[in-house]
Amino acid sequence: MTIILGIESSCDETGVGLSRLDAAGGIALLADEVASSVDQHARFGGVVPEVASRAHLEALVPAMRRAFDTAGLRLSDVDAIAVTSGPGLAGALLVGVAAAKAYALALDVPLYGANHLAGHVAADTLEHGPLPSPCLALLVSGGHTQLLRVDDLATSITELGSTIDDAAGEAYDKVARILDLPYPGGPPIDAAARRGSPSIHFPRGLTGPRDAAYDFSFSGLKTAVARWVENEERAGRPVPVDDVAASFQEAVADVLTAKAVKAAKAEGVDTMIISGGVAANSRIKELASERCAAAGITLRVPKPRLCTDNGAMIAALGAHLVKAGVAPSALDLSSNPGLPVDVISV
Ligand code: KG4
Ligand code: ZN
Repeated sequence: MTIILGIESSCDETGVGLSRLDAAGGIALLADEVASSVDQHARFGGVVPEVASRAHLEALVPAMRRAFDTAGLRLSDVDAIAVTSGPGLAGALLVGVAAAKAYALALDVPLYGANHLAGHVAADTLEHGPLPSPCLALLVSGGHTQLLRVDDLATSITELGSTIDDAAGEAYDKVARILDLPYPGGPPIDAAARRGSPSIHFPRGLTGPRDAAYDFSFSGLKTAVARWVENEERAGRPVPVDDVAASFQEAVADVLTAKAVKAAKAEGVDTMIISGGVAANSRIKELASERCAAAGITLRVPKPRLCTDNGAMIAALGAHLVKAGVAPSALDLSSNPGLPVDVISV
């Protein structure tokens, strides 16, 4: 039995997770503590890196204490440590990496610098068990929009496409501002969209015949929404917020799910995972399950708590790395804000 401590600090969530790898290769989650600084960023309409770094510094040790209390473990029970070393905000990553190095040195246990994106995929294995190989992962959050082919969670992940401008969640947050809805924009737009009807046709970015099949673009969509709203205001008409939200959401859900299903078919993959904060979206889940069912693809979406940034996903990825016998990182490990997705551990 191996106990793995996972530390996550790439954005505005300070996460500490504890997982257990048993002799048969099973992975169980023992603790998952998250402290978010989202409220401190709300008035700015987006994450302020310096504020996030400071919040990690204050939240990390208390989150560690809560995680060990929940699991009924002590620091000396830890056999290995995994920490997000990238991608993410430079100053924010630094806090988690520095802490993980200190704990690894003090406890004399192996340290794994882990990829945040692979962590999002690993989170699903905590809820739905081992992944079939190969499978496809669609990661959609405030910071990422990625289509990945996963052959082996610990050793082989290939990026098929990503956003060329805004991330999907970023588009939600920006459109929420246009519609005078609070930050983060995903939940209020999702709620408004359920009351409205998708009667306005907004553009589907990068879906032309000559466009990159698996890349995404949401900045044109955001601009189209802004122009539409301005036009109504200029004409003195009340803005139908619910219908605008529903129409915007339909455009996002349509593009994400169409491209993901197309990629799954082209890669001959029969399982799709959707993770990241935006995976909590009701319409994306609904359309993805319709389209996956029609294409004979099994859809796996972890519960929202596991979709958003947390330490559990890093503790899970750490367990997969230990299980696969991947070599640990050196103690001079540094963070890498631009860590490519195919570098699963550093
Ligand atoms: O994964 P996450 O918590 O943090 C990172 O960005 O890494 O994702 C946060 C993003 C925000 O942009 C938020 O607006 C979006 O996820 N989000 C949603 C929903 N809930 C959260 N977007 C669409 N629909 C939702 N229900
Ligand atoms: Zn994330």
